[in-house]
Amino acid sequence: MSAEQTDIFTELNPGVDFPLPPELSTHGPGRIIAMCNQKGGVGKTTTSINLAAALAEYGRKVLLVDFDPQGAASAGLGVNAMGLERTIYNELLAAKPNVREIIHPTEVANLDLVPANIELSAAEIQLINEVAREQSLSRVLRSVEADYDVIIIDCQPSLGLLTVNALTAAHGVIIPLGAEFFAMRGVALLVDQIERVQDRLNPRLTLDGVLLTMVDSRTLHSREVIELVRERFGDKVFDTQISRTVKFPDATIAAEPITTYAPSHSGAKAYKRLARELIYRGASA
Ligand SMILES: Nc1ncnc2c1ncn2[C@@H]1O[C@H](COP(=O)(O)OP(=O)(O)OP(=O)(O)O)[C@@H](O)[C@H]1O
Ligand SMILES: [Mg+2]
Repeated sequence: MSAEQTDIFTELNPGVDFPLPPELSTHGPGRIIAMCNQKGGVGKTTTSINLAAALAEYGRKVLLVDFDPQGAASAGLGVNAMGLERTIYNELLAAKPNVREIIHPTEVANLDLVPANIELSAAEIQLINEVAREQSLSRVLRSVEADYDVIIIDCQPSLGLLTVNALTAAHGVIIPLGAEFFAMRGVALLVDQIERVQDRLNPRLTLDGVLLTMVDSRTLHSREVIELVRERFGDKVFDTQISRTVKFPDATIAAEPITTYAPSHSGAKAYKRLARELIYRGASA
């Protein structure tokens, strides 16, 4: 469904929920979504994990690709990537990648993980002399696209070659933005980068949406930031917002998505609503 239809929906039903996603009888080929913002700590990893888990709960087959040398998405799903011999790093540089061999199932049904660890930080430099270096991730994911309904790439906080690889592999990009001071700083640069990749490497790339995270709607400041973001991005801003709550760091420590750690918490409900909104907007199967 188009953003236009979503608008009509929310206009007709202000504050009303997005419908339950239809059940899928077959799976794939997947839509690849890059979770991207070069600003650190805006909720990329939290959103990747919890949106992935929420989509999986709705019966979607989901692959989460940890594409950050910090390995936060791996750790957040209970996979200790530091000790792994093979991660996304090896596949990126392999003559014949076989990503299937490094996919880890998670505790969440329907949700698989491609792990990363600190080794990935070397890839940026090692890829420089590769042929079609920007297409390395796309090449790695090609063989599993058909197995999944959604593939989410959790990017590192940078606009470098790894992030360009994620944008080149993706159909869509989601930009999480913390609703706090300087949230918009650097966003013009990110949008520029997205457009550059669209223009030169990946014409199918679209901005799926901007997600407001760490929202504290009691503060005037949060409301001002939200207004600014809505002015800039219009209907690209997801209707769903993620509030600031300590349950997210708590869930991270428990190495679980909030949707299983505290399923009745408002944070879990918000990510499930985001999953429904994404499907409603046609950005996921
Ligand atoms: N809605 C929220 N409310 C409160 N804390 C949050 C929320 N979302 C994320 N956090 C916490 O904020 C910190 C940063 O979040 P997260 O790791 O998801 O951001 P990131 O954009 O992936 O960071 P990086 O750029 O370092 O990869 C984490 O400790 C996380 O638990
Ligand atoms: Mg992160």
